[in-house]
Amino acid sequence: MTSFLRPLAYRYRWIYDTVTAVSSLSVGGVERLRGLGLEVLKPHLKPGAAVLDLCCGSGEAAAPWLVAGYSVTGLDVAPRALDLAAKRHPALQLVEGLAEDPPLADASFSAIQMSVALHEFPRSDRERVLRSALRLLEPGGWLVLVDLHPAGPWLQLPQQLFCALFETDTATAMLEDDLPAQLEQLGFSGVTQELLAGRALQRITAKRP
Ligand SMILES: C[S@@+](CC[C@H](N)C(=O)[O-])C[C@H]1O[C@@H](n2cnc3c(N)ncnc32)[C@H](O)[C@@H]1O
Repeated sequence: MTSFLRPLAYRYRWIYDTVTAVSSLSVGGVERLRGLGLEVLKPHLKPGAAVLDLCCGSGEAAAPWLVAGYSVTGLDVAPRALDLAAKRHPALQLVEGLAEDPPLADASFSAIQMSVALHEFPRSDRERVLRSALRLLEPGGWLVLVDLHPAGPWLQLPQQLFCALFETDTATAMLEDDLPAQLEQLGFSGVTQELLAGRALQRITAKRP
């Protein structure tokens, strides 16, 4: 179940961009939100390393990686989002495909980022996406997930409202699940979770052994 606002937000980018700007205030603004993946993984990566932004949308969270000099590929299923990404971020290498079965070679990335996208997948598909990420990472490569987490008392209501207006059941299902435990079960190592924005966001890093 979701409201009529969700398809509108995906159709009209200004709605999507405004909602992102407002909801990112709790983490320090949209630039901070977009840079959360780079911020935590940069110390682990060689200059110019190959990075995949899985479910890149219009490429906003890939942009900081490009600016920092990494070789960035963005994958998304939505041609409309990819067209916009090509216009906004010409250096981003774009691939149209499913995150559950990405048309990309094994062990071809030093890092993979998923920025506020994992909650889009039902539980069974979420597992396929994470298995694909493991396959695409080189040994010792890093995954960073930035996504919703059950908010603390101050942001509980705003988060519920946000989910009711803009998300589907897959987001509420993800809020019930223990993502770090799932990553460990799938074979990732060094799993670390940080809670941000009044616990409403989680940033998880994990490594391919
Ligand atoms: C909430 S947006 C996040 C976009 C971007 N990561 C960001 O931080 O702005 C979720 C994205 O996931 C993409 N997506 C949803 N299901 C997908 C799938 N099965 N395979 C690839 N991309 C998918 C959507 O097209 C959308 O661009």
